[in-house]
Amino acid sequence: MAFPKERRRIMRTIGQRIVDALPGLDGIAEKVQPKVQEAVQGGGTPLRNALDGTWLGTPLHPALTDVPIGSWTAALVFDGLDLVSGSKRGKAVRNAADASLAFGVAGGFLAAAVGLSDWRYLSGGSRRMGVAHGLLNATALLLSTGSLAARAAGRRSAGRLLFLAGYSFAGMSAHLGGELSYGYGLRVNRNVFEKPGPDGFTPVLKEDELPEGEMRRVEVEGVGVLLSRASDGRVCAIAATCNHFSGPLEEGRREGDTVVCPWHDSRFSLCTGEVLDGPAVFPQSLYETRVRDGNIEVMEHQENAQKMVT
Ligand code: FES
Repeated sequence: MAFPKERRRIMRTIGQRIVDALPGLDGIAEKVQPKVQEAVQGGGTPLRNALDGTWLGTPLHPALTDVPIGSWTAALVFDGLDLVSGSKRGKAVRNAADASLAFGVAGGFLAAAVGLSDWRYLSGGSRRMGVAHGLLNATALLLSTGSLAARAAGRRSAGRLLFLAGYSFAGMSAHLGGELSYGYGLRVNRNVFEKPGPDGFTPVLKEDELPEGEMRRVEVEGVGVLLSRASDGRVCAIAATCNHFSGPLEEGRREGDTVVCPWHDSRFSLCTGEVLDGPAVFPQSLYETRVRDGNIEVMEHQENAQKMVT
């Protein structure tokens, strides 16, 4: 359904409108994104999984951003204390401020590397917003690193001002990071918005329509289920929609008892839904199966139903 232009304008957030009005962001993305993709792909599956947070079972970038945000907030408090307490506890408070700032800078570089990796799949408005988010973060990091250098050179007042400016940029950037998650659904588990499936076993396919080595997508009660027959003969069922960015797993590549998503190569166990290779970090929703009277039947998995939001 097409919305009138005025309505579309109202539906976009302020952040989206500002970012969309900035010239040049697409140009930057077109130059940088292929290089990022090449670098991450060049590192092979272990690097991809490390950066994507597959080993952690949760997206890595949001977890890492807590380091600079927390450390820099502590540095801001120590700088404030230093200013109001004068020379009384000066040295200890200054050391604490500098250490917090340095720890935040180290965490910021790590978070930036992982965030750049997350950005490699984006397109359109989310890619533009990712560029703006990255540029603001880079500015924050640059100013904070400059602040460290100024402090080391004995120019503490200049260091405090540089850091204050950097902290403000980091705040703006954090807002755009939130929009990427909440507005564009970046790194959100897409499976949780689907219906949990039938609450009792429901026939979906004739047993002989699923030969060994095959995968079939079936629709049941509004949810797409990927049926497969495992190498030991079991009939398995997981969500057919990839939880990373909704790729159609039935069009993916089967490797043993796993399936590789056709869009970005996440690999899942066909019988447990476990994510084996990223960029996905969450397991696929799982369904119970049984064979009765020559029919394959499926029903929701209890664990599944609990984590879904619908
Ligand atoms: S949609 Fe990205 S890996 Fe499946």
